[in-house]
Amino acid sequence: MAGKRIMLDVLKGETVSPPPLWMMRQAGRYLPEYRQTRKRAGSFLDLCYDPDLAVEVTLQPIERFGFDASILFSDILVVPNALGREVRFEEGHGPVLKPITAAEIAALNGETFHVNLEPVYETVRRLRAKLPDETTLIGFCGAPWTVATYMIAGHGTPDQGPARLFAYREPEAFARLLKILADHSAAYLVRQIEAGADVVQIFDSWSGVLDEPSFEAFCVEPVAEIVRQVKAVHPDVPVIGFPKGAGERYRDYRKKTGITGLGLDWTVPLSMARELQAEGAVQGNLDPLRLVAGGKALADGVDAILRTLGNGPLIFNLGHGITPETPVTHVEAMVKMVRSRR
Ligand code: CP3
Repeated sequence: MAGKRIMLDVLKGETVSPPPLWMMRQAGRYLPEYRQTRKRAGSFLDLCYDPDLAVEVTLQPIERFGFDASILFSDILVVPNALGREVRFEEGHGPVLKPITAAEIAALNGETFHVNLEPVYETVRRLRAKLPDETTLIGFCGAPWTVATYMIAGHGTPDQGPARLFAYREPEAFARLLKILADHSAAYLVRQIEAGADVVQIFDSWSGVLDEPSFEAFCVEPVAEIVRQVKAVHPDVPVIGFPKGAGERYRDYRKKTGITGLGLDWTVPLSMARELQAEGAVQGNLDPLRLVAGGKALADGVDAILRTLGNGPLIFNLGHGITPETPVTHVEAMVKMVRSRR
């Protein structure tokens, strides 16, 4: 049917075959046209805050591959930036922030938060107007824990030691930081929905480094708070949660947080994914390096997912973002494999 957003049907629990398909980080450096546009922007954040350029790069993977969903081009770190924190992206180093102190957490305020993020809302409005009717538009934010890890360490780390230590040493300041991030992230998602996002996704890329009580307090609770606040205003808009690396804790994450769709990283066994699918839509979970390798590694990975999860509510995706070295021809091959499934 023309104009039908099949990803929304899947998020209601329906099985659609072939399944809807998109890729995390689908606009990015593996695409030559992205690298071209990127050169015309000053910094990476300039690109995120320029609606003309952000719309252009968001649409590139849709035009090339016809994905079923388009994800707003932005970054999870625009939230701390809009709260007044300095954020830079250095070539080859990733994000660099000024590490936040307990005193600075106490002084954080969001007075100009939405004003600062207005270019992002404008990007969403223009995207909804430009996208094909049948393409689902995904808005997003980072989960409070993941965003906090970058705010505290000031850069990426292998196991988020600085943020874990800060949380144990300064529990009150840390709880306040999570609460500020949850409240502002919820308000940010609500504005994205009002600008035209059909679905929102919460990325908790670092949920895999915490012990059990910390996972509950730092990952589950703040995400549940965001979901409550979003659902209070827009009860029918699906929320996808992506607690990367959560392992066994994937089992009750959906129930505890109230999310609609569950994003699976590539380490989640397909047998477990099948069980998780009994409670609602799952999204994932091809190892991005199978896509880099191509050939049999790719075909086997796609086939296993479709065979195990294809008869239930599935949104086909990678188990994390596509990497810059991925050949475009491998993405084309993956799209063909998924779409040729009946
Ligand atoms: O998926 C999309 O196409 C939408 C855009 C998007 C970006 N970042 C663009 C980006 C999304 C959804 C994100 C989310 C994001 N950003 C996460 C959560 C998902 C994940 O990957 O775990 C995190 C942790 C970040 C923070 C971040 N941004 C890091 C650690 C880096 C450096 C690593 C890298 O890939 O360079 C970024 C930079 C970034 N965000 C790029 C893009 C396209 C590359 C920068 C560039 O093009 O110069």
